[in-house]
Amino acid sequence: MSSVTADLLAKYDRPGPRYTSYPTAVEFHEGFTPERYLEKLDQAAANPSEPLSVYVHLPFCRERCSFCGCNVIITQKPGVAAAYLEDLEREIAMVADRLKSRTRLVQYHWGGGTPTFLSLEEIERVFKAFADRFTFEPGAEIAIEVDPRVTTHRQAELLRRLGFNRISMGVQDFDTDVQEAVNRYQTFEQTKDLHEHLRGLGVESINFDFIYGLPHQTPESFRKTIQLALELRPDRVAVYSYAFVPWIKAHQKAIHLEDLPAREVKLQLFGIAHELFTADGYQQIGMDHFALAEDSLARAAREHTLHRNFMGYTTHPARDSVGFGVSAIGDLGGAFAQNTKKLNRYKDALDRGRTPIERGFERSKDDEIRRDVIQSLMCNFYLDVRAIERAHGIDFASYFADSLRELDEGPKIHGFLARTPEAIEVTPPGRLFVRNICMAFDGYLKRHEGETKVFSRTV
Ligand SMILES: C[S@@+](CC[C@H](N)C(=O)[O-])C[C@H]1O[C@@H](n2cnc3c(N)ncnc32)[C@H](O)[C@@H]1O
Ligand code: SF4
Repeated sequence: MSSVTADLLAKYDRPGPRYTSYPTAVEFHEGFTPERYLEKLDQAAANPSEPLSVYVHLPFCRERCSFCGCNVIITQKPGVAAAYLEDLEREIAMVADRLKSRTRLVQYHWGGGTPTFLSLEEIERVFKAFADRFTFEPGAEIAIEVDPRVTTHRQAELLRRLGFNRISMGVQDFDTDVQEAVNRYQTFEQTKDLHEHLRGLGVESINFDFIYGLPHQTPESFRKTIQLALELRPDRVAVYSYAFVPWIKAHQKAIHLEDLPAREVKLQLFGIAHELFTADGYQQIGMDHFALAEDSLARAAREHTLHRNFMGYTTHPARDSVGFGVSAIGDLGGAFAQNTKKLNRYKDALDRGRTPIERGFERSKDDEIRRDVIQSLMCNFYLDVRAIERAHGIDFASYFADSLRELDEGPKIHGFLARTPEAIEVTPPGRLFVRNICMAFDGYLKRHEGETKVFSRTV
């Protein structure tokens, strides 16, 4: 990673999508209506034996971390969550009625916000609302995001009893100067205590989230943070590049540009995480994750069979996913569908007996082809060209002539990828720039040229 010069870094550090979906959410529009979503649900009901993924958004947090880019509602008022759960139950009933006997789940994910903002009774209530209408396939991934600062032992025990087998903990950074700069005070002991408790309960897979590029991070401080993480040895870690998007998330203005590490330092921070994790039994997964080599994600990455959806990396994706709760995104019958982000609109829609879908996107054949290419490169740093040709009936070289020229004139010269007529492979130094490589296959970016305030920067 150190072989990348400052000039090259400056050239590649430009605004670009993170490709949690293709096309990205920026393309979603209101022409995709609640009525169209109901049609999609009805079509989905016609394949009752096909498994589904379900995402549930639980948006509440007690306080805001100033770096946060998630869809969050900050509140300490009692009763706000209970009112939301009533609405959520109405949405579950409405959608499950349409899905009829399409009930088998292979992936079930509670994200936020902070799902453990909810009380024990509220957690049980949400779980029951789904368990009454859906069933879990053997080996289903049942996952939740938790904040160690607010998650109690009793909540952990309840989650285990309900069947959650993947728990992801937000950590971000253990350094107190960094924590102060981002308004997130979390001691190493809080993280260690919850981690040990979850281990003792026999939770199958534990993940820690870190962010690099936060204010006041230095190579020395971040090295210590990663060393502390290694003492605990979670199964998986995410090391996210800080997405600084104050034009979208106004509260990020509390973070001063001059306190952020320079791009060379930012790259160094990721290099440190990469060096320490890979030296200690972890394997890099996609752009920003690491997993112990024996973990199923690591195995899938070695076999080039990793997938990714809005819930993260997965080994067993369902073709269709359904999102519940404010801002949740589903992917059903070749279309993305997103609920409104506003609590009052969410409630209003349900009061009127409508689904709270606000926007979405129906993918064309061209979108599907590009999506497969981008997904494979993002997950596996590898593209089987012949597999794309077979799956979509295209001649890759002519279909993507412009994209290939762009890659040959840039990333290939700089040693970021190698290609033959059969395959494209992202090289180890190119991995940090995989977003840039994928941008060559993006059919929508040209429209956003000149608009600087759409995406976060790629480095
Ligand atoms: C919903 S939170 C995790 C659960 C819980 N709310 C917490 O923070 O502990 C999801 C994760 O997104 C990541 N994240 C949030 N804002 C980000 C940003 N602006 N850039 C990069 N990663 C971010 C953090 O690592 C965070 O742990
Ligand atoms: S990072 Fe987590 S705890 Fe902090 S505001 Fe965002 S969702 Fe809430």
